[in-house]
Amino acid sequence: MIAPSILSADFAHLADEADAVANADWLHVDVMDAHFVPNLTLGLPVVSSLLAATELPLDCHLMIDDPDRWAPGYAEAGAANVTFHIEAARDAVQTARAIRRAGALAGLSVKPGTPLEPYLDVLREFDTLLVMTVEPGFGGQRFLAEVLPKVRLAREQVRSGHLRLFVEVDGGVDADTIVQAAEAGADVFVAGSAVYGADDPGKAVAALRVAARAGMNRS
Ligand code: DX5
Ligand code: ZN
Repeated sequence: MIAPSILSADFAHLADEADAVANADWLHVDVMDAHFVPNLTLGLPVVSSLLAATELPLDCHLMIDDPDRWAPGYAEAGAANVTFHIEAARDAVQTARAIRRAGALAGLSVKPGTPLEPYLDVLREFDTLLVMTVEPGFGGQRFLAEVLPKVRLAREQVRSGHLRLFVEVDGGVDADTIVQAAEAGADVFVAGSAVYGADDPGKAVAALRVAARAGMNRS
């Protein structure tokens, strides 16, 4: 699945920017609180308006402190997938259960420096693993290929039947790096600047899809 990130879109025209990527699978929404990450973006009121303005399922990526308190609200509002960071959570399992009870998929995200091994059991409570391929906070950063062993480990856990998960990568994904990520076993690809920095965002989504397939076929 291709999930364009509206972080790189025009925030004054979000409905139009969503329409421009109607051929995508999910629309990725980066919620930043200026505490967990230095940057500040948007929150639940904007997500609620966006839900009413697009048919695309919303993939909410919460880069916020205290997700235990705030994450279930995004699921209740109607987001398709709600991902929060393990580094910020107090009780990841309870929060995942609250998200699922509210009808959304539950996602867990790990920063580049956070290992995956300690959380393999916890991941049974989740539908999505979001492996950050940049330090969270800003768009337009360079893809960190050194993070790909975590993608391989997650894919191996899925292949062997230990976990059932989407394996999502986020940060620095473009037509080149998406091939490596797909080859490593990712199946959801977030792209901000590679989509909204292109002249035709819809065409960029289609091109990313072709490149991801090529990588998957190599794995
Ligand atoms: C970064 C965000 C990403 C960001 C990716 O913290 O989580 O979703 O939008 O932007 P690009 O694709 O430009 O790296
Ligand atoms: Zn994101």
